[in-house]
Amino acid sequence: MARLGVTESTATTMTVDGREVLAFGGCNYLGLAHHPEVVRALCEEAGRSGISTTASRETTGNTGVHEALEAALASWMGQEAAILLAEGYTANIALCQALARDHGVALIDAKAHRSLRSAATAAGMQVFEYEHRSPKSAAWLCRQYGDLGVAILTDGVFAADGALAPLPELLGVLPARRATLVVDDCHGVCVLGARGSGSVEHFGLRDERVAITTTLAKGVGCYGGAVIGRRRLVDAVREHADVYRRSTPVPTPLARAALTAVDLVAREPGMLARLRSNTARLRDGLIALGLASHEGRVPIFTFVLEPASRMQPLHEALMHEGVYAPLIEYPGGPTARFFRITVTATHRDEDIDRLVAGLRRHVGG
Ligand SMILES: Cc1ncc(COP(=O)(O)O)c(C=O)c1O
Repeated sequence: MARLGVTESTATTMTVDGREVLAFGGCNYLGLAHHPEVVRALCEEAGRSGISTTASRETTGNTGVHEALEAALASWMGQEAAILLAEGYTANIALCQALARDHGVALIDAKAHRSLRSAATAAGMQVFEYEHRSPKSAAWLCRQYGDLGVAILTDGVFAADGALAPLPELLGVLPARRATLVVDDCHGVCVLGARGSGSVEHFGLRDERVAITTTLAKGVGCYGGAVIGRRRLVDAVREHADVYRRSTPVPTPLARAALTAVDLVAREPGMLARLRSNTARLRDGLIALGLASHEGRVPIFTFVLEPASRMQPLHEALMHEGVYAPLIEYPGGPTARFFRITVTATHRDEDIDRLVAGLRRHVGG
């Protein structure tokens, strides 16, 4: 798959080979990566603090901005505490390093993000896969391995197709003790829930066996990662996760930008409302063309054409008209190569209508 050479971007456009196209890719669900207040916060903090702390937080690299962001994330997500890591991938590694002390086994959804498997394996947990989105399959494994301490690891929203994990049912099969449901919510945060804090809020889960990990580089639009959950677990990450203790934190200007972004989600609920109405508009357009693949709470739409040889010409025809509809290769999709289209809160009605009209012209329907 050829990489794009993007030279400039806004929340809804990108410039490739000197040409600006209307874009429906990435995971900038609320447009926060380009929000003027977020960008300004980043620049101002760089002026105040420089870029890197140049040291780990437990030596001389801690700042009030990092601590304020942790407090904001925990409060937003209705959890006791949070701890920042360098990325979402690292957050999964850090959490597994802490969990492995009393959880011997990791049960991972067959289509979960690869970082969860890498993290559990590297932490020395025994790893087993359960069938994609199947609490029944996870329950069987819980019965086999419950005595060893079990963590169920799943994406909250699966990046490839926007499907939701059955979190209440997974929690229902989890043992009562020495057990954790790890929700990697990189694609639920800034999308699901009344406050936009993600899948756990969406399902109304209040259970101290739940732990959330997320990136701050997608919906939040900045950079970094976090583990959010019960205080004892967050403290265990801080005490025992080597990847936290022995690495430099997310740069302070990015932490400040993320703090501003999280604050904006609360201050401007219109962004979430707009994301939801745009999602519904695109879903309705795709349904009319026979292309929508789920009921549409999530702004990720995945489809394939048959025969598969029709897909590249469609992608190129749309690009020729100035519309970028990503045709990607990524694990967990319906086939090896598929269209993954995302809409953001910042797309205008006419942008969405332009994409749907282009698809109609070339696919029919
Ligand atoms: C579900 C999921 N988990 C983890 C990650 C890793 O996050 P980051 O890019 O911040 O390392 C990603 C990002 O690609 C993801 O989609």
